[in-house]
Amino acid sequence: MIRPFVNVVRVSADCLGNRRRRGAARLRRALVCGLVAACQTAAATPPAPPVPLSPEAAPANLQVLHWWTSASERKAADLLAARLAEERIQWQDAAIPGGAGIGAGKVLKGRVLAGDAPEVTQMIGPSIAEWADLGLLLELDNVAAAGNWNRFLFPSIEALIVHRKHVMAVPLGIHRVNTLYYNRALFARLKLAPPQNWAEFEAVANRLRQAGILPLAQSSEAWQVAALFENLVLAESGPAFYRELFVQLSSAAAADHRTGEALRRLRTAKGWLHGRLEERSWPEVVAAFAQGRAGMMIMGDWAKSELAEHGAALDRDYGCAAAPGTAAYHLYSVDTLAMFAGDYRRMPAQERMARLLVTPALQADFNALKGGVPVRRDADPARMDSCARASWTTFAKGVAVQAPSLVHRMATEEPSRDAIIAEVHRFFMDDRVPVAEAQRRLGALFRLFNLKNQGAPGAQDTDRRR
Ligand code: BGC
Repeated sequence: MIRPFVNVVRVSADCLGNRRRRGAARLRRALVCGLVAACQTAAATPPAPPVPLSPEAAPANLQVLHWWTSASERKAADLLAARLAEERIQWQDAAIPGGAGIGAGKVLKGRVLAGDAPEVTQMIGPSIAEWADLGLLLELDNVAAAGNWNRFLFPSIEALIVHRKHVMAVPLGIHRVNTLYYNRALFARLKLAPPQNWAEFEAVANRLRQAGILPLAQSSEAWQVAALFENLVLAESGPAFYRELFVQLSSAAAADHRTGEALRRLRTAKGWLHGRLEERSWPEVVAAFAQGRAGMMIMGDWAKSELAEHGAALDRDYGCAAAPGTAAYHLYSVDTLAMFAGDYRRMPAQERMARLLVTPALQADFNALKGGVPVRRDADPARMDSCARASWTTFAKGVAVQAPSLVHRMATEEPSRDAIIAEVHRFFMDDRVPVAEAQRRLGALFRLFNLKNQGAPGAQDTDRRR
């Protein structure tokens, strides 16, 4: 375990009102100051000086905090542990249940505040920059430079892991959140084709309903409802508007008719659940789809691996297509691991791990098990299944077709993401909330968060508000 001593001095100055960081968001200050208190308590014994040890002498066990807890995710994590073992690194597992990392984010904060940071953590999207600003993450510049990461990473992947010109995380894989799964036997029996847009989706849903089949496997869990909503927004508008809404948090975008239309469709989708609003975990939703209890499902491509756990095979038992209206786009969640700095004895192992994770072989094998695609431009699409190939080739078209998933922390910081998810969920659960009212409330939230973020460290970073 690592006690985060690094940069305590720099951060304490901030808590004492350092003018260079004036205007920092209050939330961030609260966390920073809490961290400083924790660090200073821990600092009763001064940190060991950074005496470089040879890699052979370095302790080689690394604790990894992550949220891969379903059966298929577990296999993917086990593969990483096995490959690390070959490098004499022992993976100490700290798995926190909760899809989309809802629980893991909170546990991580608590542990760091208690001076008990893991050496490695799943940390994705703008939160990498937030933690990096606190000075707690290990810079991986040397590993990235020696391995020429900039030659093979997709530019938008590089932008995700580089903060203030330093490499702060290791990218593992890209998930496509706008994925539609359909039951092939059912579709063949009813002579249905996978819907290309939401109008076709409604027609297919009606046919399924007439045949006594639930059209859509969908949980009422807040993040899963918001995941459907972000798909609807993307279909209704495209990546440019999507970014205005979820990255720039524009109140004009919240008031726009396209946001209203996406909300209306969300309400229609609720009707297809036949009143069965069950707060099921995502693996339970996958199980229901695998058992033929619903004709379609919209979920990130990690569901493919979970379907395999139920014996369901892609292109035989189920088909994979882009979610309606989004075939040209890639709504992404990129898995990245960051390392906590502070215990210099662990550094050689942390760096060895970083080096290993981006190698072509590990990228191909891990992503084949996990359901995502490699972060490398030089990956071989011929080695991918049909669903992964479509994901990788679409993502490779560049930033104009890419949309960062709000739900999976790619678009905005944690407090705004949580508030938006809660607002969308409230609208979904309560049919009395008019569409215009939900739009007004989203606009008000956006104004509040933009006010808070004004002048916050990194607020001017183009990286953060892409
Ligand atoms: C992660 C995936 C994970 C999924 C479900 C996403 O945020 O990117 O790796 O499988 O959540 O928990």
